[in-house]
Amino acid sequence: MAATELLLPVAAAAVLLLCLAGGSRATNVTYDHRALVIDGVRRVLVSGSIHYPRSTPDMWPGLIQKAKDGGLDVIETYVFWDIHEPVRGQYDFEGRKDLAAFVKAVADAGLYVHLRIGPYVCAEWNYGGFPLWLHFIPGIKFRTDNEPFKTEMQRFTTKVVDTMKGAGLYASQGGPIILSQIENEYGNIDAAYGAPGKAYMRWAAGMAVALDTGVPWVMCQQDDAPDPLINTCNGFYCDNFTPNSASKPKMWTENWSGWFLSFGGAVPYRPVEDLAFAVARFYQRGGTFQNYYMYHGGTNLDRSSGGPFIATSYDYDAPIDEYGLVRQPKWGHLRDVHKAIKLCEPALIATDPSSMSLGQNAEATVYKAGSVCAAFLANIDGQSDKTVTFNGKMYKLPAWSVSILPDCKNVVLNTAQINSQVTSSEMRYLESSTVASDGSFITPELAVSGWSYAIEPVGITKDNALTKPGLMEQINTTADASDFLWYSTSIDVKGDEPYLNGSQSNLLVNSLGHVLQVYVNGKIAGSAQGSASNSLISWQRPITLVPGKNKIDLLSATVGLSNYGAFFDLVGAGITGPVKLSGPNGALDLSSAQWTYQIGLRGEDLHLSDPSEVSPEWVSSNAYPINQPLIWYKTKFTTPAGDDPVAIDFTGMGKGEAWVNGQSIGRYWPTNLAPQSGCVNSCNYRGSYSSSKCLRKCGQPSQTLYHVPRSFLQPGSNDLVLFEQFGGDPSKISFVTKQTGSVCAQVSEAHPAQIDSWISSQQKMQRSGPALRLECPKEGQVIGSIKFASYGTPSGTCGSYSHGECSSTQALSVVQEACVGVSSCSVPVSSYYFGDPCTGVTKSLAVEATCS
Ligand code: GAL
Repeated sequence: MAATELLLPVAAAAVLLLCLAGGSRATNVTYDHRALVIDGVRRVLVSGSIHYPRSTPDMWPGLIQKAKDGGLDVIETYVFWDIHEPVRGQYDFEGRKDLAAFVKAVADAGLYVHLRIGPYVCAEWNYGGFPLWLHFIPGIKFRTDNEPFKTEMQRFTTKVVDTMKGAGLYASQGGPIILSQIENEYGNIDAAYGAPGKAYMRWAAGMAVALDTGVPWVMCQQDDAPDPLINTCNGFYCDNFTPNSASKPKMWTENWSGWFLSFGGAVPYRPVEDLAFAVARFYQRGGTFQNYYMYHGGTNLDRSSGGPFIATSYDYDAPIDEYGLVRQPKWGHLRDVHKAIKLCEPALIATDPSSMSLGQNAEATVYKAGSVCAAFLANIDGQSDKTVTFNGKMYKLPAWSVSILPDCKNVVLNTAQINSQVTSSEMRYLESSTVASDGSFITPELAVSGWSYAIEPVGITKDNALTKPGLMEQINTTADASDFLWYSTSIDVKGDEPYLNGSQSNLLVNSLGHVLQVYVNGKIAGSAQGSASNSLISWQRPITLVPGKNKIDLLSATVGLSNYGAFFDLVGAGITGPVKLSGPNGALDLSSAQWTYQIGLRGEDLHLSDPSEVSPEWVSSNAYPINQPLIWYKTKFTTPAGDDPVAIDFTGMGKGEAWVNGQSIGRYWPTNLAPQSGCVNSCNYRGSYSSSKCLRKCGQPSQTLYHVPRSFLQPGSNDLVLFEQFGGDPSKISFVTKQTGSVCAQVSEAHPAQIDSWISSQQKMQRSGPALRLECPKEGQVIGSIKFASYGTPSGTCGSYSHGECSSTQALSVVQEACVGVSSCSVPVSSYYFGDPCTGVTKSLAVEATCS
C-alpha cells in the first residue's frame, strides 16, 4: 500500500515536469496499407523539406511558421554528415548545424519531423553529404557491402539517433520525429554495385531498424526495401507508384516543387497548377503522405553546394523563396489544395479508393464509407478541357486538373483555378552614394567604405608544397580543404626544341574539371571551365616561351564535388593530363614531369576572409586593381535598415567566394551565363513536367544576387571580403533588399468559392460564389492604393494587367471601396456587384494593389 501511495505522486510529478519542460506524451507511430497511423489514427499528411543549414537559426521559426500556415503537418530534413563531423570523431552540432534545435523549433510550431539521415543525401550538397575524410579510410568502398564503410555509416547514424534520443525528440519519446529515412535513392543506382549492393541495402535497413527509434523507417526509390521499411517514391509525379507490400502505405518523399540551379544553367521553375495537379492526383490515387522537395530551398552557404557547378542559390522555385518570403501564388494555392485535401481526410482514412472512368483521360475516384464521402475528378488530358458527368451532375474540368469534392457533390477546389493572390517581388537597390546627381548631399541608405586589396600570388608560395613526378588527381590531393590546387612545373628552353615554332609552342592541358587558369611565366595565358553536364576541360593555345627557364603554373578549381550517381565519390577533378607542348617538329609531354603542388591559396592560409586577422597583405588604396585575376578585396558597409532580406548583386565581378563578417555567403559567379536557348516565355502547365520544361533567364547570368542572411550582419559596420579568381570591379557591386511589390489576384466567376467559405452540402444548400481576396504580406501594412481593377475579360499578369474588350466601369470604385485602408479584403466576383458588361461571357476580376 505504502509503495503505491508513494509511486502515484512521483508519476504525477514526472508528468508535470514533462509538461513544464514543454514535452508531451509519447506518440505511437505505426502504419498500415493506407497511411501512417499516429496514436491509432490513420493520418493524411502534408510535408515539406526545409534543410536547416541552408538558412540560419534566426530564420527557422519564421520558415516553419510559414510552412504551418501553408498547411504543412511535417517538416522533412536531411542530416548532413560532413558538417556534423568535419574531422573524424569530432562532432559539431552548433549554430546552423544545431539539428536538435531545428527539430525543437518544428516541435514548437506543433509540426512533425521526418528525419532523413541518409547519411548519403545527394541534395545537391558537396560530395552528397559525405565528409571527405571518409574517402581516405583504407580499403573503403562507398555505399556497398564494405566493412570500413558500414562501420562509419553505422557509427554516424547511431550518433544522430542517439543525439535525437538524448533530446527526447522521437515521437516514441513525446518528440516530433514520426519518421526516418536510411540511405537515399539507392535503388536508382544499385545495379552498378551488383550483389554486394543488395547485401548493403539489406544491411542498411537492418542496421536502421536495430537503432530502435520507435518510429517507422523509409527507403526512397528502393523497390525492394525489406520489411518493415516502407519504400517511397520521389519524382515530379508519384500517382502511379505502389509500395512493395500490401501492408505499406503509399508515400511520396520528394515531390520536386521546382528544380535546382547550376552555374551556367537557366533558372528552372514549375507552374503551381502542375504541382497542385500532381499533389491532388497522388491523394486521389491512394497516397496519404506527400513531401515537397523543397518547401524552402534556401542558400548553399560556404562551399556546401554539390556539383559540379551547383549554384549558391538553392531557391528551387519553392513555395517559400530563398530569402524566406512566401512565393505567390505558389504558396497560397498549395495552402488551398492542402485545405481541400484535409476536408477529405475523414473519408480518405476511412476506406480504400474506388475509381471509375469518366470518359477518355477522365477519372473519378470516390472514398465513401458510411456517412463520409469524398471524390476527386481528374482530367489528365494535357490539352483539352472537358465536361464530365459524375453522379448525375455536370462538372467542367480544365485540362490537366483535378477537382476536389469533400462531400462527393460540391467542388471546393480545382487545381488549375487559382484563387490565391499573386505577389510580385522587388529587389530594391540601396543608394550608397552620399552625393545626389544635382550635387547636394543626401543621406545614404547604405555606406560602403573604400576597398583594400591583397594580391594572391601566381604559383607556389607555401613552404609545404609537394613535388612529385606526374599529375595528381585533385580531390585525392586536396581532400577538398580548398577549391584550389596549383600545379607548377618549369622547363628549360634552349631555342631549338622540336616543340617550338619560333618562340611559340602549343600548350594542351586536359583536366577532369572544373575550372582551369593557365599562367606562363607568371602571366595569365587563358582559362577554361567545364559545365554541369560535362566538367571535362581540354584547353589548347599557343604560348610564348623564352630562352632559359619557363614557369608553367596551372590553377585548377573545383566548384562543388559530385553528389549523384553510382561511384560519384570517385569521379575526380583536376588536371590528370595529358599536359603537352607541341610544335611542328615534335612534342614534349609534361604529364610525367616533376610537378609541384600547392593546396589552396596563400590568402586562405593567412585567413584573409576573417576580418579580425590583421594581415600586412592588405593594401588600402583608391587605385585598387580591377579586372585582374587572383585578387582579394575588402570593404566595410553599414547594415541596411529594416528587416527585409538582404542580398548582394555581384554584377561586375567574375567568379569567387564572398564573406560577410568572416562568414561565407557562398561562391559567386555572375559571369557564368545560361545558354541562349531552351527558355519559354510563358510555360504551359498542361502536360507532363520535366526539369527543363520551364526555364527563365536564357543567355543571362545564372545567378547575380547572393543572399546575405540578416544574422550575419551586425549593428553598425560590417566587413565584406571577396576572393576574385577571374577579375572584376568591386565598385560595381550593389546591395539590395527584397520586398513584396504589388499584390494582385485574378479570379474568374467560374472558379469555386474561396476555400475558407466551404460549408458542406449537408450543412447548407446555398453556397457563396467565387471571391477575390487580397492580403498585405507584412503585419501592420494596409492596402494603400488600387493600381488596376477590371471586371470582364482582363488579360496579362501581375504588374501588367490590361482591360479586355469587356470591362465594367465600376470595377475600380467597387474594389477601392472594399479594399483601401484595410489589411485584407474580399470582393465577390459577380455581376451583382459590378454590373454585367457582357452577358453570356465568363468574366473575371483582376486587381493589382499596393500595400504600405
Ligand atoms: C533526388 C535526391 C535529392 C535531390 C533531388 C534533386 O534524386 O534524392 O537529394 O538531389 O534529386 O534536387
